[in-house]
Amino acid sequence: MYRVEKARISDADQMHKLINYFADKGEMLARSLSEIYENIRDYFVVKQGERVIACAALHVMWSDIVEIKSVAVAEDSQEQGIGNQLIEACLKEAKELGIPTVFCLTYKPAFFERFGFSQVDKMELPQKVWTECYRCPKFPNCDEIALTYQLEVEA
Ligand SMILES: CC(C)(COP(=O)(O)OP(=O)(O)OC[C@H]1O[C@@H](n2cnc3c(N)ncnc32)[C@H](O)[C@@H]1OP(=O)(O)O)[C@@H](O)C(=O)NCCC(=O)NCCS
Repeated sequence: MYRVEKARISDADQMHKLINYFADKGEMLARSLSEIYENIRDYFVVKQGERVIACAALHVMWSDIVEIKSVAVAEDSQEQGIGNQLIEACLKEAKELGIPTVFCLTYKPAFFERFGFSQVDKMELPQKVWTECYRCPKFPNCDEIALTYQLEVEA
């Protein structure tokens, strides 16, 4: 069992390399280093010593919706439950924040469906979700699949 921890700014370079390694293979969207710096408080990491072997981010979009993004586990560390632990950490934080809807845009819907996420029409997502998309190189031809998950939260 690995330890999921909040990212530190000194992890950003390695997170950037990890995410963009998979982005170059077309498996996820690229992130710039400045985006990672600006959103460093969103990120969780899993480390082996000083090496970042996995990361994921939970980004608050609005009062009732958060996004899980940039989920990446180094190839030599996959299939050991780390992705699972990262999603659990994101869902836990969303619940603690009292935010009921979690969504993601991904090329790996089956991975998220295992946790109870359901595919939705992207157009069903609130408009606020799309503000970030203008910066995406794929905009407006988004080919990712949208999924949502509903949490029970205290009012
Ligand atoms: C997808 C990814 C995050 C999974 O990470 P991982 O650490 O290997 O996942 P885990 O070991 O925690 O696997 C958890 C479960 O998900 C399943 N799973 C893993 N990858 C999957 C995939 N692509 N599709 C469906 N199920 C998947 C595993 O079989 C496992 O199921 P089990 O508990 O029944 O055995 C990892 O393969 C990765 O980083 N891929 C490249 C980047 C990427 O595609 N990110 C995802 C979306 S943004």
